[in-house]
Amino acid sequence: MKFQEIKNNIFYCGLNDCDRRIFDELIPLEHGTSYNSYLVKGSEKTAIIDTMYPPKTKEYLKRLVENQVGKVDYIIANHGEQDHSGSIPALLEKYPNAIVLTNPKCAENIKSMLHVSDEKIRVISDGEEVSLGDKTLKFIFAPGVHWPDTMFTYIKEDNVICTCDFLGAHYTFSDVFAVESLELEKSAKRYYAEIMMPFRTMCKKYTQMIKDMKVDMILPSHGPVYKNPDFILDLYTDWASDTPKNLVVLPYVSMYESTKDMIDYLSEKLEAKGVKTFKFDIVDDDLGDLAMALVDAATIVMGTSMVLAGPHPMAVNVAYLAAVLRPKAKFASLVGSYGWGGKLFDLLAQILAPLKLDIIEPVQVKGKPNAEDYEKLDAMVDAIYNKHKSINLV
Ligand code: FEO
Repeated sequence: MKFQEIKNNIFYCGLNDCDRRIFDELIPLEHGTSYNSYLVKGSEKTAIIDTMYPPKTKEYLKRLVENQVGKVDYIIANHGEQDHSGSIPALLEKYPNAIVLTNPKCAENIKSMLHVSDEKIRVISDGEEVSLGDKTLKFIFAPGVHWPDTMFTYIKEDNVICTCDFLGAHYTFSDVFAVESLELEKSAKRYYAEIMMPFRTMCKKYTQMIKDMKVDMILPSHGPVYKNPDFILDLYTDWASDTPKNLVVLPYVSMYESTKDMIDYLSEKLEAKGVKTFKFDIVDDDLGDLAMALVDAATIVMGTSMVLAGPHPMAVNVAYLAAVLRPKAKFASLVGSYGWGGKLFDLLAQILAPLKLDIIEPVQVKGKPNAEDYEKLDAMVDAIYNKHKSINLV
């Protein structure tokens, strides 16, 4: 298949992976993903920006041959993670005169992960420019979105920027240009939640930087190319902002419905007061949906049954995930039910502690909740409502 031209001798040479169902062995993919690679033909030199996920290397090289890419002078590694760098050794073999241009941290990564030798790497510095003749590549180090080795490559004459994982989406396409839709927005949000949210402060910084650059297009390393940069930049501005929305996320695991009854009760009462809720069944629901809800939530209330004198292990897993994703939530509480005894909340509170959430009095019940327990849940609803009011969400 012929490479699609993005702009003035800049071509898309990446691949879709429509069958991939999970990324990082963690978050399910609804639309597969794409591994984007860009071929930039200058009047004197040719560069490839980012390469390919190793299992796709053969197909990737085949397409380069089909498109008569006879010489490559530079391979730009914007980031060392192997879904983008994995085909560098094969490319170096195919194009023996090519040299890898990358930053010092990425150089270390591709040496250790891919055993690329020193003589095939030229380490560049932040802001350095490399000429391809009528095109100039400018390297902008962007540590933290999402690895310390991440950088962007800006193609000056065309005013387009390759942002690596930043501003990407796990999404596939036949035409490389983004069709702005709710579906794409959801995929980009799911991707942001899992990959970028832990680095929210850096996301804010680089979103603003790219806004200020007034680029014509954004070329990420997953998902479509944005001809209208504001579509994705405005979404990131919202997601990465410091202000949560009037939303309570309620992840729960319930063995005999008692914990579920409490979660349902909380949800119903909060909704009646105008507070939005998102109930998440830890056993059956899709973790990506939880991650997306955490992008906006002001409050997290976790529900757990007791298993062997402690919280259910699947609740522990979700608490850990919430802690490492570092959402902007401000408040939290816990509810749960036990049969004979133990410590239901201590471990969960300990795992969530790094988020520095303002903790609302938890409710722990023996067996099924009784009238007194429901009064405590009513008090929790009032407390959440008042907390949201205190930061002008209701
Ligand atoms: Fe898409 Fe950080 O790799």
